Formats: sequence, C-alpha cells, structure tokens
Amino acid sequence: MVSSRADPARTSPCEPVMTRSTRPTGTESEEPHLRRAVCPGSFDPITNGHLDIIARASRLYDTVHVAVMINQSKKGLFDIDERIALIEEVTADLGNVRVESFHGLLVDFCKQHDIPAIVKGLRAVSDFDYELQMAQMNIGLSGVETLFVPTNPAYSFLSSSLVKEVAQWGGDISHLVPPPVLEALNARLRQQ
Ligand code: PNS
Repeated sequence: MVSSRADPARTSPCEPVMTRSTRPTGTESEEPHLRRAVCPGSFDPITNGHLDIIARASRLYDTVHVAVMINQSKKGLFDIDERIALIEEVTADLGNVRVESFHGLLVDFCKQHDIPAIVKGLRAVSDFDYELQMAQMNIGLSGVETLFVPTNPAYSFLSSSLVKEVAQWGGDISHLVPPPVLEALNARLRQQ
C-alpha cells in the first residue's frame, strides 16, 4: 500500500526538507530520498479527525507511518490488530500510508524507520501545553521534529473517547467516523 511520490521539483515552503544532519540514522536509511513522517496515536478507534490529519500529512510527505501505540496497562475497545486493520482500510486510497504498532518511546520508532518528523493535529489551545511538552522532549531526546497541523474546525471537539461514549448511548456518530469504523463500533457495542 506504500507508493513513492518523491518529486524533487516540488519547492513548496510547506514541504519539510530532510538533510543528512537532521535525518536520524536507522534501518531504512537506504532510502534517503524519501521524506517520511509519523502520525502517532492510540486510534481506539480512528476518527474523521485523525483521518483528516493523516490525509493532509500524506500530501506533504512521500510516506506517512501511522504508529499505533501499544499500551499494555489500558485495554481498549479494539485490540491493536483491529485498530490497524481499520486504519489500513480507511487510508488505503491515500496510497502512501503504512500502519504499524509500536511500544516504548515514539522517538525509538522514528529512529528505527528513519523518520525525522512527527505530525500532530492541534484541536484547541487546551491541546497545546501537553503537545508542546512532548514535542520539546522528543526533539531533546533525538532531534525528531514535531509539526502541528490545525485540526479542521468540523472536528475540533472530536476524540475517540467521546465517539465511543456517544455511540454507547445510541447517539449518532455517523458523521464523525469513517463507515467501516461505524460498522465495527456498532458490532462491538452490540456484543457488550
Ligand atoms: O492518541 P493519543 O493517546 O493521544 O496518543 C498519544 C501518543 C501515542 C502520541 C503519546 O502518548 C506517545 O507518543 N507515546 C509514546 C511514548 C513516548 O514516546 N513518550 C514520551 C513522549 S514525550
């Protein structure tokens, strides 16, 4: 599902430039021409807000890795494989998205995959404090940059937790998640 869309002629100021000095060394450094970024998260499940950020990142980078965090201390509604399968299904048409799980530090995942940039959505000012702390920690740990993308206002209130809560009580979330996620959520909630 990964396709290379490297185009050295592109000169938009929005495009991050990878140089040898900013690119971490890692197992994928044999493809140094590819501009990579990661969109990390729990994705339990992926929402239209996540998808909007991933789609926008996929237009700025050659390959976007969606990294699904494994949190052993928190049981989600969907297990990691189910989350990955849903993300793969709803990002398939983008053509340059790879979906993987990780545990431990995000910067170690970045190093392993030779990824110099983390792309995150900012929904509101309330997101900013913690996101800034993480971004500063991550660049301090490893030199990996964080780029913030303003969330589409249509999704500024949206989170996986709220979607699950509303769905649990029969609220309409069909405009907030992609159709395969809606189907999976309804099926899972019927089982409970
Ligand atoms: O969807 P979420 O739960 O808000 O995502 C949070 C996530 C996965 C992006 C964040 O918790 C994370 O990066 N965890 C990996 C562990 C790590 O690197 N911690 C140090 C961050 S400074």
